[in-house]
Parts: sequence; C-alpha cells; structure tokens
Amino acid sequence: MEFNIAVLPGDGIGPEVTSEGTKLLEAIGSRFGHQFRFQVGAIGGNAIDSTGSALPDDTLEIAKESDAVLLGAVGGPKWDDPRAKVRPEDGLLGIRKELRLFANLRPVKVIPQLMGASPLKPAILEGVDFIVIRELTGGLYFGKPKRRWKTKSGKRRGSDAMAYTEEEIVRVLRVGVELARGRRKHLTSVDKANVLESSRLWREIAQEMALEYPDVTVEHMLVDTAAMQLVRAPSRFDVLVTENTFGDILTDEAAVLTGSMGILSSASLAGTPLPGHPAFGLYEPIHGSAPDIAGQGIANPIATILSVALLLRFSLGLDEEASAVERAVTQALADGYRCADIGTEGEDLIGTLEMGKVIRSLL
Ligand code: IPM
Ligand code: MG
Repeated sequence: MEFNIAVLPGDGIGPEVTSEGTKLLEAIGSRFGHQFRFQVGAIGGNAIDSTGSALPDDTLEIAKESDAVLLGAVGGPKWDDPRAKVRPEDGLLGIRKELRLFANLRPVKVIPQLMGASPLKPAILEGVDFIVIRELTGGLYFGKPKRRWKTKSGKRRGSDAMAYTEEEIVRVLRVGVELARGRRKHLTSVDKANVLESSRLWREIAQEMALEYPDVTVEHMLVDTAAMQLVRAPSRFDVLVTENTFGDILTDEAAVLTGSMGILSSASLAGTPLPGHPAFGLYEPIHGSAPDIAGQGIANPIATILSVALLLRFSLGLDEEASAVERAVTQALADGYRCADIGTEGEDLIGTLEMGKVIRSLL
C-alpha cells in the first residue's frame, strides 16, 4: 500500500528524532511491502523565522492532504519572550484546531527494565499500563472569552473560560469507551464536577454514555483525586478521559511513572479509531524540543518511534506493523541499549542515530 506522510520536524531536537521516525517507516515499508511518501513542512520557531507564522499555510495544506502527520517538537529560548506576538506553541495549538484533532491519546506503560529510572517505588509501578485521553480542541485552552483588558480603575484583568458543548464531550468520551472495549474495559472519566458547571455536564454525559456500553465499567473521579491516585495506585487505571487542561497536567504527572519523557508517545486523532476504520491523526513524542541538547545527537528517538507505531495502528490500520515496532523497541531496551535520558551510571550509552539503527535491525 502507498501512504502520504506529512513530516513536521519543528525545533530543537525535533529534526533529529523525526528523521529516525521516517527511517523507521522506510524500514517498515521494505519489510512489509508498503510505500511511504514524505512531505516536509515547517512549524514552530523556525517557521516564525522563515515566514513570520508558526503555522504557514503550505504546512497546513501538506498536513491536510496527508494520511497522517508526524511531528517533532516546537519551541526554544529564542522565541520565549512572553510579549511576543507569535509563539512557536501557536503552531501546535493551531494545527490541533485546524485539523480537528480532538482526542489526544497518551499511553503510559511502565517497562520493567526502566523502573529504576522512575522516582517511584517499584511496588507502585508494577503492572502500570494505561492510556490518558485528553480532550484537545476545547475546554480551558480554547473557551471564550479569552482576553486581557484594563478595568475603569486602570487595573489589569485576564480571563479564560472552560466551556464545552455536548458534541465535544460526547465524541471524546466515545473514543474513551471504544478504546477501553479493546483493553481491560475500564474507563475513568475525570472531572471537577463538585465545582465546575462544564464538569457537571461532562459527568452527566459520561453517565448517559455508560448506559450505552454495559460491557465497560465507567467510573467518575475528581481531577484532584486522579492526580493523587496516579502516583499512589497507578496500576488501577486502564483508560482515563478528561478535559484539555486537566489532561495537560495529568499527563506530565503520568510521564514520571515511566522514568523518562524520552520514551512517551502520543496520538492526536480527528475521529474514533475502530477496527478496520482508521482515523486521521497527528503523532508526536510527548517531550519538548529540548534546546539544551539539540544538535548533539544524544536525544532519545524512542518516543518518536513509538509515536510512529501509533500512526501505523490508528491512522493507517497497520496493526501488525505497529506491533512489530513496539516489539523492536521493547527488545532494544531488554538488550540494554540506552540513550542518555534513561541511562544510569556505568551503562554504555548510545546516541540518536545508533538507537534508531538498533531498533530497525530488530524489526
Ligand atoms: C503539551 C504541551 C502543549 C500543551 C504546549 C507546548 C502548548 O504542554 O502538548 O502537553 O499545553 O498542550
Ligand atoms: Mg503539556
């Protein structure tokens, strides 16, 4: 089969890790008989420098024409001025909104060999394997009014709004239940229904949907409790689904369980992926552009490579290929290959290129 992949390397270590992602796709192509065509677009800080926009029109065009998008990372100190008119992050928020990527999936699975890299006790990490689904195009990030102004007395004010429509809640919860059905059939809907009106609507809709899916156990949890349970008893979770900002915060917390951001992947989907019905999506490592190590060839490409696995599974419907990538990564780690982010003292560390090569050789 033939596929068009939009590649948006971005800033910092983005180009280094995405290039391992495309090399991996090529290896998958020759092993399984597929052809991947890559079209590269600018996004983030480098796009601001070259075009004035963090998300140039032709990048959006390339992305819209593709079967799936692979993104590196955006941002860096060069573009960090809080008073700047355009910021690299605008590219990220813009592409999520423009491509209607409403469901952001962030799988968290503790790999036994890497338990030592996490600050949490092994007993707590045992058996951790869950997915957080973060609503990505609504909630507090996009709600209106979103503005700053001066009051009559000359004091500054700022406002954001957490707002949701029924449709927005339904479609993201649907992704949650469907994913849970293919897993351990347990869904945790996370809200702040004891305080927030949008959360009370969220919970009401989640309760209604639970009736539609008697095969899935749906529990409701307040976001502060969820934050605590994530470090106290993370193995109790299977699939979590939550509001945009809650999800942003909880997924950074969850990343700590695995010991490194360098191995966490993500998928942002424009539909519910069902067996035989792939959904359009954008795939990116969870980690940022890591300007401090950019250009040194030491960034861990595993997060990007695992994002490619998600791309194969959810947007191209290539499940066998996706599993082959995941197995190769597990094998590389089991064989003791480590990049600097997950290495411990005394271990032989390898760089970005070597890690990519090792994983391809294990396909
Ligand atoms: C993330 C990041 C982004 C977000 C930033 C870079 C805008 O933190 O993807 O989690 O807040 O969504
Ligand atoms: Mg974040």
